[in-house]
Amino acid sequence: MSTRHHLPLISAVFLLFLSLYLPPSLFASDDHESNPISRFRNYLRINTAHPTPNYAAAVNHLTAFAATIPTVQTQTLYFTTRDKPLLLITWPGSNPTLPAILLNSHLDSVPVEPSKWLHDPFAAHVSDDGKIYARGAQDDKCIGMQYLEAIKSLKVNLDYTPLRTVYISYVPDEEIGGFDGWGKFVESREFKELDIGFVLDEGQASITDEFRVFYADRSPWNLVIRANGIPGHGSKMYDNSAMENLMKSVEVMMKFRENQFDLVKAGRAMNSEVISVNPVFFKAGTPSPSGFLMNMQPSEVEAGFDVRLPPTADPDLMRRRIEEEWAPEWRNMTYEITEKGPLRDNMGRPLMTATNDSNPWWSIFKQAIAASGGKLAKPEILPSTTDARFMRQLGIPTLGFSPMKNTPILLHDHNEYLKDTVYFEGIKVYEHIIRSLSSFDGASIIETR
Ligand SMILES: *[C@@H]1O[C@H](CO)[C@@H](O)[C@H](O)[C@H]1NC(C)=O
Ligand SMILES: *[C@@H]1O[C@H](CO)[C@@H](O)[C@H](O)[C@H]1NC(C)=O
Ligand SMILES: [Zn+2]
Repeated sequence: MSTRHHLPLISAVFLLFLSLYLPPSLFASDDHESNPISRFRNYLRINTAHPTPNYAAAVNHLTAFAATIPTVQTQTLYFTTRDKPLLLITWPGSNPTLPAILLNSHLDSVPVEPSKWLHDPFAAHVSDDGKIYARGAQDDKCIGMQYLEAIKSLKVNLDYTPLRTVYISYVPDEEIGGFDGWGKFVESREFKELDIGFVLDEGQASITDEFRVFYADRSPWNLVIRANGIPGHGSKMYDNSAMENLMKSVEVMMKFRENQFDLVKAGRAMNSEVISVNPVFFKAGTPSPSGFLMNMQPSEVEAGFDVRLPPTADPDLMRRRIEEEWAPEWRNMTYEITEKGPLRDNMGRPLMTATNDSNPWWSIFKQAIAASGGKLAKPEILPSTTDARFMRQLGIPTLGFSPMKNTPILLHDHNEYLKDTVYFEGIKVYEHIIRSLSSFDGASIIETR
């Protein structure tokens, strides 16, 4: 009888002993949301990979965490269908007449091939040396949670209130073009009412100890060239077959590619500063049951190229080059360009954000990085395309930045991971950045130079 009475007490003492002497990780399952790493891992465990991203679960996770931060408000917006929510978080500033700051992150990620991974890509496994493995660890669930962690820290630890309102948008569909995500958002009445003055969007990891920052994207063109000619027997030599004409064009294009690539190899330009041209498909031949007819020269052939232009390139010049040299009509060729993104903003200016003193936001951003103890690499053009183009089109200064240094670039790769120490450092960096940007009163431009 007496033993039964004492059991609860003994258990309590035992549990206390356990909690004092065993590593806290053993208790993590009892307290999922207790620290930044467990919150990050829980976000990573939500599968938002295409083609079936679970946006609702991601929005719930972020909304629940935001609700723990005093004064922060959340709102879920729908611009297309109910299964494509956009989460907007508002941290009200004390002077709502000043243009606001927008921090952006996309909810979705690219698909995975789980068999090629060391760990389940949605388990957020942590290795002994602190690497958190998950799809989205770098691209870009890290920044999505770091924004909130930084705001929570500024509010709860420092009781800081921003001067300018800070918004965070969590958008769907970035990885499939962003048209139903940020694309729709920027056209909405809700967006115009925010009065955004400056935007931070995702960047990329850096393998050195300098952070990378991006002031422009390259714009992809899908180029398909076609050649038509008279068909002929495989044994006959004759001029101007479709295949021959296409190959002539390919030669010209590959010379152009080589020239651009040589600039990179000579150190005159970064990879993303030149026009890249890469062949991605050839469609030719007359099918037969065993493959292709070998004695038949086809009358129609086609090739596809991924062409990418930096905003410094002249799109009209490029179009002329394609028309006159790559797929000339006199060589019986046609072409089709599908522009996957703009190269100019709505005012006709190159689609890029100034990274010099003409842009006061740049100066503040740069100083905030320095104040956090970090170093910035030379600003770059992102080799691929992001949602940032939608903001830059409106003429809103937008920088791409993900604070991950000394980290291999693993976006879209197997075994994408981020180290816990790098993640924590990122939160600190954002504390500096968000504080500096949101307290910028517009009058201190001179001082910041
Ligand atoms: C273009 O097609 C016409 C008609 O088939 C042909 O006579 C001519 O030789 C072709 N020219 C070239 C350059 O392929
Ligand atoms: C700043 O950069 C922009 C864009 O690259 C350029 O057009 C402008 O002339 C530069 N201004 C100054 C003051 O250097
Ligand atoms: Zn991304």
